[in-house]
Amino acid sequence: MTGAFEKLVSLLDYPMFVVTTRVDDQLAGCLVGFTSQVSIRPPRFLVGLSKRNHTFRVAEGATYLAVHLIERRHSELALLFGGETGDEVDKFAQCAWCSGPNGTPILDGAAGWFVGEVLSRYDLGDHVGFLLEPVDGSAPDKFEQLVTFSDVRDLDPGHDA
Ligand SMILES: Cc1cc2nc3c(=O)[nH]c(=O)nc-3n(C[C@H](O)[C@H](O)[C@H](O)COP(=O)(O)O)c2cc1C
Repeated sequence: MTGAFEKLVSLLDYPMFVVTTRVDDQLAGCLVGFTSQVSIRPPRFLVGLSKRNHTFRVAEGATYLAVHLIERRHSELALLFGGETGDEVDKFAQCAWCSGPNGTPILDGAAGWFVGEVLSRYDLGDHVGFLLEPVDGSAPDKFEQLVTFSDVRDLDPGHDA
């Protein structure tokens, strides 16, 4: 059964996100595939962060996360946030960003984003689910080609999951 499940999910394709956060002067962010809207009314969104990631350790103390969608023309952002770890490099010195709602880092190259308040955290296994209530954001009329799982499935992650 496990083999079938792993094969099934490896065949899926879904948008990838870059999730960023800030606690005091600590900035963090990583590429995330484990996400889903989980309620319409009220609007709720779940983000899964690996316990091994620098982003998770900063997010443990954070009140807000920023969730970005990335178009293929800015795939360098997906490579930077998925292939490097904040334990070793300053990702925010290598991309353009500004301080957004509640101090969250907003990536200039993102095609759309929202900031969510962390309502609760769920231990899910090797990932922790952060349940978000969207509080602000920016959306285009439409997306060009987004970075999806199939674009980055062979990327060597900054941290193993
Ligand atoms: C295809 C792909 C999907 C990923 N999905 C997630 C995810 O859902 N959650 C997560 O925390 N990390 C995920 N990662 C891993 C992180 O983006 C990666 O380890 C990153 O370098 C961690 O950076 P950090 O240590 O600065 O947080 C994924 C990486 C790739 C390549």
